[in-house]
Amino acid sequence: MPALGFGTLIPDAAVTITATKGALEAGFRHFDCAERYRNEREVGEALQAGLTAGGIAREDIFVTTKLWNSNHRPERVAPAFDASLDRLKLNYLDLYLMHTPFAFQPGDEQDPRDQNGDVVYDDGVTLLDTWKAMESLVDRGRCRAIGLSDITLDRLLPLYESARIKPAVVQVESHPYLPETELLEFCKKNGIVFLAFAPLGHGMRPGPLEDSVITAIAARVGKTPAQVLLAWAVQRGTALLTTPKNAARAKENFDISPLPEDALDAINRIQTRQRLNDVVNTGSPGFIPRVPSA
Ligand SMILES: NC(=O)c1ccc[n+]([C@@H]2O[C@H](COP(=O)([O-])OP(=O)(O)OC[C@H]3O[C@@H](n4cnc5c(N)ncnc54)[C@H](OP(=O)(O)O)[C@@H]3O)[C@@H](O)[C@H]2O)c1
Repeated sequence: MPALGFGTLIPDAAVTITATKGALEAGFRHFDCAERYRNEREVGEALQAGLTAGGIAREDIFVTTKLWNSNHRPERVAPAFDASLDRLKLNYLDLYLMHTPFAFQPGDEQDPRDQNGDVVYDDGVTLLDTWKAMESLVDRGRCRAIGLSDITLDRLLPLYESARIKPAVVQVESHPYLPETELLEFCKKNGIVFLAFAPLGHGMRPGPLEDSVITAIAARVGKTPAQVLLAWAVQRGTALLTTPKNAARAKENFDISPLPEDALDAINRIQTRQRLNDVVNTGSPGFIPRVPSA
């Protein structure tokens, strides 16, 4: 998996297409999608056009998509996977992730709520039930690897122990304000790729992009604060996802180079701790706008 990944969590359909093409042109070869982002069709269209225009082979890119919470029931997994593949115009996936470890009421409503506005969870299916259905996708040769997203170490451990096919990737929020060191160590020890989302602190200000340690290092090494944050993530042994929405940002976010050791140490000493996305506690996406039910 290429360490630098392009994330497709982009609400606007037209921007999804231009940004995905821009990322491909800038050199990104790893694309992170999800049925929940409701734009797999646009990503598929952009990838197909970009691959043809750039003379790039399907095998040269790495594509991930994710199973949504309302499809955790084993009988819903393969149909959800096939629907994603169809929308992405692909015949295999490099990686399929369980988007969150929370099962929602099964069905086509992605955001099921009760009369009080609370999420309707599904306690009739376990993580392992869903995982086994994902394992059979690998057995059928439809996807090359499977993994988990928005999972804590506590919940990962029992699944890791029971899984016949071990998770290849764990995708979680991570940046200098949320280094997730214990989870990273577990992943390194067990050969799991730790894939960081929100490596720029989701662009929030104030946030890591404006942290004085980061801006001072950026000035010293002649890079932008975003490039410093992305380089730190790669140098500590994680892969990452970023979502540049225009060509200039795509080039900037792809053009990273190693930081000196003392800069890494200074970033590792940052004391601020902040989680930006509560999805790990609820399964409800923090960064995706809620779409009212029809
Ligand atoms: N598993 C999950 O639950 C989960 C949750 C969230 C995200 N993700 C994945 O992770 C991907 C990354 O999402 P993210 O929000 O973490 O992306 P990100 O790139 O860390 O943050 C996006 C924000 O950063 C800004 N930005 C991007 N490049 C910049 C630069 N060079 N300088 C300054 N600001 C910059 C963007 O601003 P503009 O809008 O102005 O361009 C945007 O506001 C998503 O697309 C998705 O694939 C997964």
